Parts: sequence; C-alpha cells; structure tokens
Amino acid sequence: MRMRKKKHGEERLDACREYIYTHEGEPLENPASVFGKADAPVFLEIGAGKGGFAVGMCSLYPEACYFAMERVSDCVVLAAERAKNGAECGNLRFIVDTADNLMKIFAPKTLDRVFLNFSDPWSKKGYAKRRLTHRRYLSVYFSLLKDGGVLRFKTDNVGLFDFTLEELATVGLTPRTVTRDLHNSPYTEGNVVTEYEANFSSQGVNINMLEVVKPDGFTLEIPEDLRLGRRVYPRG
Ligand SMILES: C[S@@+](CC[C@H](N)C(=O)[O-])C[C@H]1O[C@@H](n2cnc3c(N)ncnc32)[C@H](O)[C@@H]1O
Repeated sequence: MRMRKKKHGEERLDACREYIYTHEGEPLENPASVFGKADAPVFLEIGAGKGGFAVGMCSLYPEACYFAMERVSDCVVLAAERAKNGAECGNLRFIVDTADNLMKIFAPKTLDRVFLNFSDPWSKKGYAKRRLTHRRYLSVYFSLLKDGGVLRFKTDNVGLFDFTLEELATVGLTPRTVTRDLHNSPYTEGNVVTEYEANFSSQGVNINMLEVVKPDGFTLEIPEDLRLGRRVYPRG
C-alpha cells in the first residue's frame, strides 16, 4: 500500500537534516568518516521504512555507524522524526535513495553488516529481478561487505525466503543461520523487531531469518546498471 503524501514533507525532512546523509562525489572509502570517526563498524539497512529497526539498532550498537536507506522520502520523514524525538541516535543517518545506487555511495569492502527487513516480495511472475535478494543485488551487497561481513535478512514471506535461499545457492553462498520461526528460535537475543515484524507476528505469522557471512576473497560479477547506479528521484 502506498503511503499517503505527508503534509509539509520537505520542511519536516529539513527540520531533521542532521539525520539525513546526501551523498555527493566518489563512493565513500571510509563511511565512518561521515560520523567524524576514523574507524568504527559500519552497518547498512536497506528499505528502512518508518525507522523503528534503525533507531533500535543504534541504541543497541552505540559504537556502530548506522546508515538506513529508504527510497520513499515520506517514510524517511517519519523515521527521522522518530530518531530526533526518541533515543540517542547520533550514530544514525538516513539515505533517501534506492538500492540501485549503492555502488555510487559506498566503496567495495567498507561495510560490516547489511540488513534487509521485510523487503517487498514482488511476487508476480516476471518481477524476480526487482527483489532485493535477487542475485543482481546480492552481487552488490557482497562487493560492499568486508570479508567476514554479514548479510542478515528477515521476512514473513515464505516464497521470498525460499527464493533467497535459492539465489544464495546459485551464487555459491551457504547461510550460517537459517530459521523459519525466529521468535521461537535460539536467535532471539538482540533481535530488534521492525514495524512489519510486530504486525505479522501479532497475527501469528512466523518470521523467517537467515544470515550469510562473506567468505574471504568472495566476489561476484556486478551487472552494469548496478555498478554504475542510476539517478532516480526518490518517491515522495
Ligand atoms: C515492506 S516495507 C518494510 C519496512 C521495514 N523494513 C519493516 O520491516 O517494517 C519495505 C520498505 O522497503 C522500501 N524499499 C523497497 N525497495 C527499495 C529499494 N530498492 N531501495 C530502498 N528502499 C526500498 C520500501 O519503500 C518500503 O519502505
């Protein structure tokens, strides 16, 4: 469902500008420098929605530099306002952009963790390439992750979860963790619940989760459109 256009969206976003990162120039060789740090773990969330996970993760990992990417600017308005009015979030920046531009923002081997939470399933036949766990996007994440870095993916959608396991196998990656019932698994400690996760689990839907560690020296060929990125206006 599309979000209703936020009244005064631009002004509201501007009022939270300390939480917004707009990238210009060459890809970041040291993303921690955005936070004035020489060295710190760098986390990236893609499809951050209203920001509940990002804000929760920032207080759980105060030492980390956390980037939360979301392509719908009206979602970022709510997320950034939550960060501003909520807990200590000095280690959080939202990026209003699409995952298609990741290679323009971050240099290879600069991220410690990548989080995908309840990504859009694009269930219809013919739309597989749009899924954020399609091998096209996996090639980007596993380029940007450092050796030993971790991709973590949660979804309620069994079809998307199975598809993701198949895509990982196709590119030669084996998850270190797989659960089809996260909330009744040994992996609940430190699990920050997202807005979608709270909603689905309150309806009794199981949450699927997997984690993949990037093997040393692992590389995949990145499709040209994702390697070069594409400049699109974020959806309002
Ligand atoms: C189903 S919502 C989940 C939101 C949140 N992660 C949660 O779990 O509550 C998926 C979010 O991903 C965003 N999104 C989808 N495709 C994206 C892309 N290519 N780049 C950045 N964000 C994207 C959507 O705008 C939406 O806010």
